[in-house]
Amino acid sequence: MDLQLKGRRALVTGSSSGIGEGIARMLAGEGCAVVVHGRNRERAEKVAADIKAAGVAIGDLSTDEGTASVHDQARAALGGNIEILINNAGGSSTGNTTKSPIEISIEDYVSNYHANALSSVRLCRLAVPDMVAAKFGRVINVSSAVAVQPNNLGADYSGAKSALNNFTVSLAGSLKGVGVTVNTVSPGVIAVDGLVRFGRKKYGNENLTVEEVTQRLAAEKVFDLPPAGRLGLPEDLALIICTLASPRSGFVTGANYRVDGGLVRGLN
Ligand SMILES: NC(=O)c1ccc[n+]([C@@H]2O[C@H](COP(=O)([O-])OP(=O)(O)OC[C@H]3O[C@@H](n4cnc5c(N)ncnc54)[C@H](OP(=O)(O)O)[C@@H]3O)[C@@H](O)[C@H]2O)c1
Repeated sequence: MDLQLKGRRALVTGSSSGIGEGIARMLAGEGCAVVVHGRNRERAEKVAADIKAAGVAIGDLSTDEGTASVHDQARAALGGNIEILINNAGGSSTGNTTKSPIEISIEDYVSNYHANALSSVRLCRLAVPDMVAAKFGRVINVSSAVAVQPNNLGADYSGAKSALNNFTVSLAGSLKGVGVTVNTVSPGVIAVDGLVRFGRKKYGNENLTVEEVTQRLAAEKVFDLPPAGRLGLPEDLALIICTLASPRSGFVTGANYRVDGGLVRGLN
């Protein structure tokens, strides 16, 4: 099927590594002009060269100034407005994995809110008005399975992702009949480089494959494998995101797509 993405202008935030890199790679493969973003220029430029991106945009999305700069750099590299905005940058800004919800500091809650919810709000404030004017736009927010199925630990991160899901539905509802859709895609556990590095270090073997790391961590109950029997890969997310980004997907908005191998047990 032709997703009609050829020539469309896309910014993928946090695409200097992990899931974002996979999304940027697939969008570029579909013929989009893609801007690669991250805070680390060297990493972003390496990915951009590899996927023949339109350019890079460097900056911290947890501040207004950083976000405005990223938006301007992306527009300049694309030679026009952002038509497809993938708000993927994020992750736990505090790395809290052992503290209960009442042990986590207020500062940590605020930090994660900036990194995982307001980062998307900020970019949407800048990019969506242009989409409305052009009568076409796609916003896809990368959330997490923990937004709807939180763990007892890491509430600063999961709560911020819940807020992102909430923002998605409100923004979608406010954009009636203007050709702009807004959706959430929620990964379960995805085997990104960071996880593989963690496993190789833990087992003292740099040659372990993604599959071997996954199976050993699962055997130790560091996480449970979902019904799909494996962890996700960035391309699992990218496939759904390319579909939602397509001009053909105009009837899907305000939705949350779980890409978690069946991890979340729910009817929606
Ligand atoms: N991996 C998983 O299992 C998983 C599960 C559920 C949800 N997610 C979500 O998926 C998204 C991508 O995660 P990932 O695992 O692929 O992470 P990753 O490999 O650590 O990549 C994170 C990316 O986001 C950028 N970034 C982070 N905070 C930023 C900020 N404040 N401003 C600008 N850029 C920022 C990083 O840029 P620099 O490196 O240049 O700083 C990097 O490009 C995140 O939103 C995460 O919450 C991941």
